[in-house]
Amino acid sequence: MKDKRASGSGLHSLLRLLPYAKPYSWSFLLVLGLVIVFNATSVLQPWLVKIAIDRDIAAKNPNPHGLLVVSAVYVGMVILGVVANYVQLIVLQYTGQSIIRWIRLDLFKHIESQAMSFFDKNAIGRLVTNVSSDTETVNQFFTGFFLSLVRDGLSIVMIVIAMFELNGRIAAYCMLILPIIFAVSLVFRARLRAAYQTTRTRLSNIVAFLAENLAGIRIIQIFRQEKRQLDHFSKLNTSHRQANVSEYGISVLFNRVLELLGNVAVAAVVWIGGGAVLHRVILFGTLYAFISYIQRFFQPINSVTQQWNTLQSAMVAADRIGTVLNIVPAIQDAKQPVDASRLKEIAGKIDFSHVWFSYVADEPVLRDISFSVEPGEFVGFVGATGAGKSSVMSLLTRFYEPDEGVIALDGIDIKEIAQTDLHRLIGLVQQDVYLFSGSILDNIRLFRQEISRQDAVSAAKTVGAHEIIERMPHGYDTHIVAKGANLSMGERQLISFARIVALNPRVLILDEATASLDSQTEELVQTGLSAVAANRTTLVIAHRLSTIRHANRIFVLDRGQIVEQGSHDELVRLGGLYADLHVKSGIEYEKSQTGTP
Ligand SMILES: Nc1ncnc2c1ncn2[C@@H]1O[C@H](COP(=O)(O)OP(=O)(O)OP(=O)(O)O)[C@@H](O)[C@H]1O
Ligand SMILES: [Mg+2]
Repeated sequence: MKDKRASGSGLHSLLRLLPYAKPYSWSFLLVLGLVIVFNATSVLQPWLVKIAIDRDIAAKNPNPHGLLVVSAVYVGMVILGVVANYVQLIVLQYTGQSIIRWIRLDLFKHIESQAMSFFDKNAIGRLVTNVSSDTETVNQFFTGFFLSLVRDGLSIVMIVIAMFELNGRIAAYCMLILPIIFAVSLVFRARLRAAYQTTRTRLSNIVAFLAENLAGIRIIQIFRQEKRQLDHFSKLNTSHRQANVSEYGISVLFNRVLELLGNVAVAAVVWIGGGAVLHRVILFGTLYAFISYIQRFFQPINSVTQQWNTLQSAMVAADRIGTVLNIVPAIQDAKQPVDASRLKEIAGKIDFSHVWFSYVADEPVLRDISFSVEPGEFVGFVGATGAGKSSVMSLLTRFYEPDEGVIALDGIDIKEIAQTDLHRLIGLVQQDVYLFSGSILDNIRLFRQEISRQDAVSAAKTVGAHEIIERMPHGYDTHIVAKGANLSMGERQLISFARIVALNPRVLILDEATASLDSQTEELVQTGLSAVAANRTTLVIAHRLSTIRHANRIFVLDRGQIVEQGSHDELVRLGGLYADLHVKSGIEYEKSQTGTP
């Protein structure tokens, strides 16, 4: 019952992807034409041999000249068939891949435009599969399924017609075998499909285990879990072998059974047809043609039944693609966003008024947050972990939308500003600096070609990263491996500062990394930070209070509310939460400097 419903919606999803194929209807027609040519040449071959045997060889007056003509035509047919087949396969693959290219592009665009809440709900790994392999499976539908339906379907029909043309009675006998082949194929296909899925699942278990293990290899080694992990891996490995061998077994058995059936059919034709030849009902060449046709019968039937699987998996894949494409981005630009000319004059004043926010309905993470920051001000945010500091910033960048309240930039509700403009005005340096694989230069520019090399270098100079970068093996062209693993925390932080300076936003948000830096790097980062903060509104979430000691104002958050605000000295004097944090961080700082555990 459940399966039925799933496949129903799967078919629906697949049909919904059809418009992507529409621009290529001409290619499909061309393929259809080529398939007809190819099939015709292939069906005519046994017929030609029959003519040669009955007319030129076994006749009373053998005809060597006729034989030559038939052979020449035969070769011509073969060449024509090969060419038609080649062109048809290439055109079809090109068409399928073109369609998939569009679907993939749309998927990517669609995923990119989603709000952060989407990424909270959808695992990255699943999205990757979606864009990479689900689309490939759908391609199988447009190529394999379509081709097989047309080519093999046509092929079966043509062979049947040819046989009935040769001799109706023998042809009718041959038809008896059809249902048997179909039944055998369907039974085996169902079992093969189940086995195939088991193998796939077990293989993906291995891959998942491997990925997780390698990512956490340090922890595993430190906790000496190698043996346990090895045992687990070994179990997965063995179960995959079992599945694989049994899948192969079914597949081999299936092919042998088909072969057996085919040969029995040949024997039957020899018996029945041979009898007819003896009784002079048909000529010897006709018998030859029959045997030939019956042998050619199996391949298309086998291939058609296989398409059932293709259709099933294509439906599942289309379903998954459809699910993603159906999600409307939670955050959309206003119909008429604020004019770019007005945005040029933005000074960087920020207002939060009565903002409420929750990730999960009815569990507010921010409660009635109101504050204002003047243009050019440098303010700090502190609070215990989970207090909601990063969430405040995620609202300001409009990664999420508040449940209630208004956030304004220079008096303009940020909902009225197009997201691309907003993200040019408000720059964000996050807790975990993300570096892309590419050179240091690429990472400072973030692939924006309009930023020249000189601009990037001067941005690096501003934040004090220049000397450090120059000291690297290839300076600005040093390649960064994935995520910047070959750089220290401080270096990564500085590059992200340079990136922000090059972007030159009106408002800068810095979500400081929790990991403590050594005092020398910390000093560098501090200097970099003051350089970045100059001439713009800066909001800093600080874990080391030293970072915001000189802030104009500091907001203290506690369980989603602003509980204290003022300058460092004022807050220390107040003797509240901030003063507590200050005392604690003093102790932490001492510890980190002296190395006492
Ligand atoms: N994507 C999310 N989905 C659901 N809940 C979330 C999400 N992000 C954060 N939260 C929850 O919201 C609350 C506030 O989180 P937030 O990240 O704003 O804290 P924070 O003050 O930045 O903490 P930290 O100092 O550890 O960075 C926490 O209770 C957290 O569990
Ligand atoms: Mg945070």
